Amino acid sequence: MIETKLRVIPFSPPDITDMEIEEVTKALKSGWITTGYRTKEFEKRIADYVGTNKAICLNSATAAMELTLRILGIGPGDEVITSAYTYTASASVIEHVGAKIILVDTAPDSFEMDYSKLAAAITEKTKAIIPVDIAGKMCDYDTLYEIVESKRDLFYPKNEIQRIYNRVIIMADAAHSFGGERKGMKSGQVADFTCFSFHAVKNLTTAEGEQLYGVMTVM
Ligand SMILES: Cc1ncc(COP(=O)(O)O)c(C=O)c1O
Repeated sequence: MIETKLRVIPFSPPDITDMEIEEVTKALKSGWITTGYRTKEFEKRIADYVGTNKAICLNSATAAMELTLRILGIGPGDEVITSAYTYTASASVIEHVGAKIILVDTAPDSFEMDYSKLAAAITEKTKAIIPVDIAGKMCDYDTLYEIVESKRDLFYPKNEIQRIYNRVIIMADAAHSFGGERKGMKSGQVADFTCFSFHAVKNLTTAEGEQLYGVMTVM
């Protein structure tokens, strides 16, 4: 008989205190365990904390990112740029809506997209850029906005919401960066749309399962 020995290496163990356990117990006793007033309260608190006008809870960051692309009417014939170094969801949501994935490589010695290569990747088909705040470090959104502004003449809005922006839209994959800050601005306060993940290994977790753990904030 082959004996399998499992050595467990802790990977981001959750920080759960009695306070969280009490809240879960209250929810279980409340008779309302699906999306409801607690979710609405959570959305409000997230928006207040981040400093944005609206936060919406979904079942994952992946769903939040796909929904954002769909709200923007992005689909077949469009291109969306993201970073080559990331989790699959940053790119797969582009495929899910039928748009073309354009990858920009990371800069040397960096986990961030090479901004010097970004302008050249923007075409008249580009509708959005998905920068990824790897390991919680917010991307250089000043440079990202400078680049999309410089390419405004290439942007052809396909619908009303795209006309409002009239430039390539920036949707942050902020799965890692809830609570992060750059130049005094919080993650969720800078990009046009921001999607957080509350998966079990993230900065703030609601655990896995059907309950909320993805958030889209809208500036
Ligand atoms: C960079 C990045 N984007 C997106 C996601 C997807 O998050 P979720 O599992 O909430 O869909 C993850 C999850 O690990 C991630 O690391």
